[in-house]
Amino acid sequence: MQQQTGVMRGVARGVAAFGMVIPLSGVATADQVQVPTTAADFYQPGTQPEPEGLQVFTESWNCLSCHNFEDDDNPDEITSPHINWAGTMMAQSVRDPVWQAAVVIANQDAAGAGEYCIRCHSPKGWVEGRSSGGDLDALWAPDDYDGITCSFCHRMVDPIASMDNPAQDEDILQSLLDAGTYPDPAFPGNGRFILDPVDDRRGPLDDVGINMHGASQIWYSPHHMEASICGPCHDLGNPVFSYNESTEKFELNSLDAAHPTQNTYHMFPEQRTYSEWLNSEFAADGVAFPDGRFGGDGHPDGVMKSCQDCHMPKTHGANCSFWYLPEIGARDDLDVHSFAGGNTWVIGAVHDLYDPQYTALTDDIVDRSMQRTADMLAAASDMDVVQNGGQLEIRVTNWSGHKLPTGMPEGRRMWLNVQYLDGDGAAIEELGAYNWLTATLDEASTQVWEAKLGVSEEVADLTGVEAGESYHLVLCDEYLIDNRIPPVGFTNAAFEAIHAAPVGAYYADGQHWSDTVFEIPADAETAVTTLYFQTTTRDLMEFLRDANVTDNRGQIAWDAYVARGMSPPVVMDAVSIDIDPFEDTPGDLDGDGVVGVDDLLILLSHWGSCGGCPADLNGDGEVGVDDLLLMLAYFG
Ligand code: HEC
Ligand code: HEC
Ligand code: HEC
Ligand code: HEC
Ligand code: HEC
Repeated sequence: MQQQTGVMRGVARGVAAFGMVIPLSGVATADQVQVPTTAADFYQPGTQPEPEGLQVFTESWNCLSCHNFEDDDNPDEITSPHINWAGTMMAQSVRDPVWQAAVVIANQDAAGAGEYCIRCHSPKGWVEGRSSGGDLDALWAPDDYDGITCSFCHRMVDPIASMDNPAQDEDILQSLLDAGTYPDPAFPGNGRFILDPVDDRRGPLDDVGINMHGASQIWYSPHHMEASICGPCHDLGNPVFSYNESTEKFELNSLDAAHPTQNTYHMFPEQRTYSEWLNSEFAADGVAFPDGRFGGDGHPDGVMKSCQDCHMPKTHGANCSFWYLPEIGARDDLDVHSFAGGNTWVIGAVHDLYDPQYTALTDDIVDRSMQRTADMLAAASDMDVVQNGGQLEIRVTNWSGHKLPTGMPEGRRMWLNVQYLDGDGAAIEELGAYNWLTATLDEASTQVWEAKLGVSEEVADLTGVEAGESYHLVLCDEYLIDNRIPPVGFTNAAFEAIHAAPVGAYYADGQHWSDTVFEIPADAETAVTTLYFQTTTRDLMEFLRDANVTDNRGQIAWDAYVARGMSPPVVMDAVSIDIDPFEDTPGDLDGDGVVGVDDLLILLSHWGSCGGCPADLNGDGEVGVDDLLLMLAYFG
């Protein structure tokens, strides 16, 4: 009953306008045992909840009156920080229905695990002390629901002292050292941020004429121009596991105790975006893009280094409504708060589910955000396609600042779709076909790039969940596959050291591309090749819906996913080439130039009804004696 009142109050204050959260009986699945973790297991250094002298974070709507406007001297790009921020996943990281559904599963799997999730996804709620037990209903709506707020980022403190930083940083860092919670910068991630307890505004500008923030001071902070400001949240290890050098496996720690070494690289690597970047050429000398695909029209040299270079493109214009006239306030080096990544649909789902009064979203903002994401994904890769005799050779090159795809390992994937057309433009064969009605992919026939996590036998025995491939995020302790394409500057040794080396795939040092070869069917005159990206798989969404025994958040997420077209794949690259006539030896099924025993075995393995498959040499829809005789005629 009490929970009901909580929900009602929440609705009144701006929680889900359309998908009302209803608690279920809360009976755990018959055979699953919840891991009895406590807050201690998820402890991380950095600023702790409710630090001494904490001033609450000013809510983002307080920034609306000045940092929200449409007109400035840049007609091509909205520069208003607030309008842009509202359309990002970071501004909506609590309203995100997929996230909420996943937190419920995390709490079911390991007691109170949700507290850790809230740390990064609602840092305001966490620091102000509303996360204990991982209870989503304890967060304040609408304020905590604003996720990564303006004030939060603009109160972040550089963990490394420098003369250029605000003078009070020395005391802030010293207080963490005194309390034993100073986070070692050598081990990034896990929400180990350091915050200014005072509600001031730090940023990249060192020439602000007058402070219009009332009692809040403005401080020049070079840290805001460094990638390391993104590091605390864009690297994520599960502290419940430790890497055992001798077994070369991640093993469960003793419970009700903090991780023994607090070395984030010894924890199970769930996301390694920041470390992938740190071990790439971007973090070293940077990578030049003469084609201007990243960085915006105001980037000084087109050389991409930091996260901000690509994710906060530079342009000209204003950042405050009173300052937009060119003669008084327009700047040439504005950072667009667009933070576009790989999430193509959830921003729309948030817009569908919540009252715009709280999300600050409009149809225009959602459309622009989705367009920016599509542009980002198109810029992420290049695809080259060539014909080599009877083979189609496809190279996909990663130009992003980390693995492609990066971030969330669950559900994100990329694949090749190849369609061969005959002289009349009719389709002869399709590889990697995607069924848009059922949101399923014919994975077997094509190349898919993805990561798949798994639960080991040990954890399965302990918890009763099934061993093998799994979406039980907090219980996963192994990678079954990770063939995501590494970034420029990749080396195996460096990626092994951060436990982010490829699994089930091989990339040579320096290789930031992936090659795939397909057989070209006889009669093909055109090959149309498309590289697709998908944010969320149907499998993941079904899991979040069906494994939930706590409330209907999994169902809400599923319904939102269906309403938004089941995470429609987006095109990253598309290339069409004409096929030149080539020598085709009937029966050379493995494409090695000769018809031999291997080809015979392939043919026999397809014996029977087999419409359109290569072993059906005479094309009658059956692999049979006629095909065998045809093959033998060319044997040797
Ligand atoms: C995820 C962190 C993050 C969030 C959230 C965020 N900012 Fe920023 N902001 C930055 C960073 C980083 C920079 C500096 C980027 C650089 O110079 O490379 C910046 C720059 C600025 C600037 C300086 C002008 C400019 O464009 O360079 C202003 C003003 C600003 N932000 C206001 C806001 C407001 C208002 C909000 C909320 C509506 C907000 N920021 C949300 C990280 C953030
Ligand atoms: C260290 C910070 C951090 C912690 C702790 C954290 N996350 Fe996240 N989470 C992120 C970041 C960063 C992303 C964005 C990655 C991306 O877009 O690929 C993300 C993305 C996600 C997404 C994808 C959302 C979508 O719309 O596709 C889900 C689901 C998620 N997190 C669930 C969780 C759960 C459950 C927990 C707790 C067990 C958790 N996260 C803890 C940082 C964190
Ligand atoms: C009354 C108007 C007003 C309000 C309200 C306001 N700002 Fe500002 N803010 C400004 C002006 C003006 C500047 C300076 C712009 C310039 O010089 O380009 C500025 C600059 C900033 C900067 C850049 C500081 C630097 O050194 O880089 C940040 C960060 C910032 N504001 C954050 C916020 C946040 C967060 C809020 C809401 C909690 C907020 N502001 C509310 C007017 C306002
Ligand atoms: C307080 C933690 C935090 C900080 C600091 C932070 N992020 Fe994030 N970021 C998140 C979370 C959480 C998400 C995922 C939200 C979701 O999908 O629900 C995210 C998502 C993103 C995305 C993915 C958007 C998409 O389409 O999937 C990008 C890009 C991003 N952040 C860039 C940055 C950059 C650049 C910085 C540094 C200037 C930064 N973030 C700092 C927590 C953070
Ligand atoms: C050279 C440009 C570049 C740099 C540098 C870069 N990124 Fe990205 N990032 C991209 C592109 C392109 C994508 C879209 C492809 C993808 O999702 O992997 C992307 C996607 C993302 C996503 C979304 C993943 C998802 O599945 O939604 C996150 C989060 C992210 N980047 C964070 C960061 C952080 C943090 C840094 C710095 C440590 C960084 N990026 C540096 C280009 C860059």
